[in-house]
Order: sequence, then structure tokens, then C-alpha cells
Amino acid sequence: MLEVRDMHAYYGKSHILQGVNLNIAEGEIVALLGRNGVGRSTTCKAVMGDVEPNGSVRFKGQEIAGKKAYEIANLGIGYVPENRDIFPGLTTRQNLILGLKPGQKDGEGRWSMQNMFDMFENLDNRADVEASVLSGGEQQMLTMCRTLMGDPDLVMIDEPTEGLSPQMVQRVAELLQEIAGRGISTLLVEQKLDIALDIANRVYVMGHGHVVFEGTPQELKQRDDIRKEWLEV
Ligand SMILES: Nc1ncnc2c1ncn2[C@@H]1O[C@H](COP(=O)(O)OP(=O)(O)OP(=O)(O)O)[C@@H](O)[C@H]1O
Ligand SMILES: [Mg+2]
Repeated sequence: MLEVRDMHAYYGKSHILQGVNLNIAEGEIVALLGRNGVGRSTTCKAVMGDVEPNGSVRFKGQEIAGKKAYEIANLGIGYVPENRDIFPGLTTRQNLILGLKPGQKDGEGRWSMQNMFDMFENLDNRADVEASVLSGGEQQMLTMCRTLMGDPDLVMIDEPTEGLSPQMVQRVAELLQEIAGRGISTLLVEQKLDIALDIANRVYVMGHGHVVFEGTPQELKQRDDIRKEWLEV
């Protein structure tokens, strides 16, 4: 589904991504782990075209490096950035509608608005209220649901559980499993090891600007050295 080869990215003169390699198969949940500042979010932004990538980014066999973010979104990549960018003055329902692709109608894709309301009672109860009154956890759900409304084949979700209660973390985990169950691929950027090891099929650990470990959750559990050097604070 996604194949990233020797991807580099810069902010001005700072060479942030220094040859990132990763791939994600159909329906796979892949976790991207690493400490603050190693370049996990920049990896998502470079795939999405929000930051210019050098190197190769292939999505469904097509080279997308150099394309614009809206073109990449239209090809089927959804991105949920780490700041929950809801539209606070619009209602929950209006926020969800904004997730549809140009020309797409509700119910045409794998997910419908009713689906979201069935999965998340809190969103249903607040369907016609301004999104600004939603709790942090509800806003996180809304951001994820809005992205799914556009019927992506791959979603990149940046730290969805940050600042959430254990109960909301559980709901996020359930949604991620529902996404995988529908055959959609997921790149999950996380800081919390538990959730990543629990639900990911494969794990990448990033060091400074490149991948330093790739394996299954089971393999990472056995690598005390990698966890000490690259993950624990
Ligand atoms: N817009 C920007 N301009 C300049 N430097 C940036 C910018 N955004 C990020 N950086 C720098 O790039 C590096 C990688 O940042 P990135 O956001 O990818 O990290 P991260 O792994 O997602 O970690 P975290 O989310 O915990 O900050 C950091 O050193 C950061 O300071
Ligand atoms: Mg980040």
C-alpha cells in the first residue's frame, strides 16, 4: 500500500529526515515509535506532501513524492495531525461533512455519518452542537471520524491517545481495530508503547531522522537494548 524509500526532508537548513524507509501492507496497523523530536510527525507530513520529501514515496504503486497534499488526499491517504484540528464554530455534523472528498456524498464510501454516530454515542448526542464544547477525547474521535468520512485507503494518525483518559484510549484502540477490519492500512504514531505493542502488526522505531528498528511487537518486547536506547525516557 505504502512504500517509503530513502526519504529525506528539511526545515530550512536542518536536515530532519535522513533516509527513512518503511512500508505498510493492506489492512496492516504499523506503529511508528520514538522519542520527542526524532521526526515521526515530519515523516507523516512528508508522506502527505505538507513538507517536501526527497526520495521515493509510492502509494498503491504510484509515485506521490512531489504531489500536493490535496492530490495525495484525493488518492486515498487520510491524515490526522497531532493537534486536533476541528472547526470549533461548526457542529459535529458539519465537521464530519467537511471530511468528504470533493464530489463525494455521505454513504458512498466505507463509512457513513450514521456509522460514526452508531460507534460513538457522544458524537451522536452532540451532533448539532458546536464542536468547541466537546471534550478533548471527543474532539480526537471527531478528528479521526472526519478523516474516515473521506474514505481513505491509508490513514496516518499522529498521537491519537495523547492526553486522553484510559477509557478514551480504549475507544481509540477499538476504532483502530475497526479501521483495520475494514481493510484500511494504518500508520499509528505513538509515544505510548502499550497501545502500540497491543494492536500493531509491525513496529518501527525512529532514532534521529531514520528508522533504527523494524520488527513485530513480540520482537521489540525482547529488545531491551533498543527500548533503552531509543524509547525510554
Ligand atoms: N516547522 C518546523 N520548523 C523547524 N523545525 C521543525 C518544525 N517542525 C519540527 N521541527 C523540528 O524537526 C524535528 C522533528 O520534529 P517532529 O515534529 O517530526 O518530531 P516528532 O518525532 O513528531 O516528535 P514530537 O511530536 O514529540 O515533537 C524536531 O527537532 C523539531 O524541532
Ligand atoms: Mg510529533
